[in-house]
Amino acid sequence: MTRWHRRASSAAALAAALLFAAALQAQTRPARGASGSAARTAAPAASQAAAAKASAADYAERFATVCAACHGANGRSDMPGTPVLAGQHSYYTITQLFLYREGRRSNPLMTAVAKGFSDADLRGFSDYIGTLPPQPAPAASAPPDAARMKQGQALAQQHKCVFCHGADFAGGQQVPRIGGQREEYLRDVLQGYRSGQRVGYTLAMAEAVGPVSPAELDVLAYYAARVPVAGR
Ligand code: HEC
Ligand code: HEC
Repeated sequence: MTRWHRRASSAAALAAALLFAAALQAQTRPARGASGSAARTAAPAASQAAAAKASAADYAERFATVCAACHGANGRSDMPGTPVLAGQHSYYTITQLFLYREGRRSNPLMTAVAKGFSDADLRGFSDYIGTLPPQPAPAASAPPDAARMKQGQALAQQHKCVFCHGADFAGGQQVPRIGGQREEYLRDVLQGYRSGQRVGYTLAMAEAVGPVSPAELDVLAYYAARVPVAGR
């Protein structure tokens, strides 16, 4: 397959993933914009709310028993290669879980976890992760290298990382939070987008990192990992 074909076929898959995520989002919030919802009786609304609450509690519990071992009870993982989920956005998360389930993003551990997920599981875990407050990185033993931080900040401007991820790298919606993420994870992910090993659900990242050298990507990872963790 040529690079173009790989990109074109992944673009189709990504469009499908986005539609899927949007559909799930719409399902989670039917009542808000629905006109005439006030006319409905209170009883079904109350039982729906109770069911949603029960299901949220269920996913909190399942997160604690299944996911916390690797990602940390509060979503701040201390395991190398395992991303921080605290402060991550539910829209981004649901799409990534979908990509793992469909084999479009592959990792032996996460593929095994997501393989048996139902659509309700994708939504339940993502909604739960969306409620986890951002967690600051543990205090570093040494102050950051000022020259490397400065270079990282300049690269983030030059390559427009801040345009999508925000000046504070907090992301939003389908754009992930990357500020305060684990450095080695960021490094792997950025090199993965560059080599084509990780295919996102849009071509945004492949295009963003194309002109950035591997050494510069490592500087960006260094910088992003040390950006103070911002609120939602
Ligand atoms: C055995 C360890 C392990 C377990 C258990 C685990 N994960 Fe993961 N998870 C990982 C690793 C490692 C990665 C990074 C994989 C990669 O590089 O693609 C990851 C990645 C993710 C990502 C992508 C994050 C991002 O920033 O792109 C999400 C979302 C996620 N996991 C959610 C979950 C949920 C929800 C559960 C529980 C149902 C879970 N994980 C259980 C190890 C684990
Ligand atoms: C046009 C918008 C856009 C630009 C510019 C952009 N990104 Fe992204 N970024 C995204 C989107 C959307 C995703 C999620 C894509 C996916 O993998 O499905 C993402 C994903 C990422 C991830 C993966 C996070 C995780 O938890 O796995 C990292 C790291 C990242 N971007 C860093 C950067 C850096 C560094 C730059 C600048 C060189 C940059 N981005 C430029 C939109 C953008």
